[in-house]
Amino acid sequence: MERRYSVAIDGPSGAGKSTIARAASQRYGFLYVDTGAIYRTVGLAAERRGLAFGDEAAVGELLPEIEVSLGYGEDGVQRAYLDGEDVSERIRTPQISRRASDVSAMPAVRAYLLGMQRALASERSVIMDGRDIGTVVLPDADLKIFLTASAECRALRRQRELAGRGVDLSFEEVLREIKARDEHDSSRAAAPLRVAPGAVTMDTGELSLAESIDAVCGVIEKKLGVRACQR
Ligand code: DC
Repeated sequence: MERRYSVAIDGPSGAGKSTIARAASQRYGFLYVDTGAIYRTVGLAAERRGLAFGDEAAVGELLPEIEVSLGYGEDGVQRAYLDGEDVSERIRTPQISRRASDVSAMPAVRAYLLGMQRALASERSVIMDGRDIGTVVLPDADLKIFLTASAECRALRRQRELAGRGVDLSFEEVLREIKARDEHDSSRAAAPLRVAPGAVTMDTGELSLAESIDAVCGVIEKKLGVRACQR
């Protein structure tokens, strides 16, 4: 049977995790799992029901009533579904970022999504990105990477990305948002953002996207002994 590998990539928002993890997955033919998308989907469900932020009891009641799933298009790109509806684009707004950060601090939400994430990782070789993949979801991952960059660097990238999608926000606004999310994701009691034991920490602040991808792939090849299957 073919050897299955698991790579956990954690780090704060805007460090380039998703783009880098997606590119590396393509390079090695691994499944890419963006776990932030599933927290965002739960956040979207809470938003649609008009629940109050921080209302854990209401979100707990909501969970058994919704169906959150991930799928992959013919192009191999991950899609997120809420009750069968493709919400992949709808979950990428600043409001849903705040919702995702809110619901992801709730232990009931984390417990609900844990099994789904582990099941995805048991099917094939995966690169999974999130905040607690190396610490909680896949503590036995073959390789754990913690990707980071300064808040200013990440804010600049996020501002450009949002502008590319027609969302114009000032640098200061994006920076404030990034710092607030960092603080919220790191200080929460449930699975806070932490560097997992044994993780390789990489700072992408000074690197271009292509350099970041090559640096991460270099670590993957060295640690797992795999080679690119397409470039
Ligand atoms: O990576 P992202 O910005 O799409 O994540 C959205 C939110 O979900 C963010 O506030 C952190 C949270 N999250 C989490 O708590 N655990 C994960 N494994 C992934 C995301």
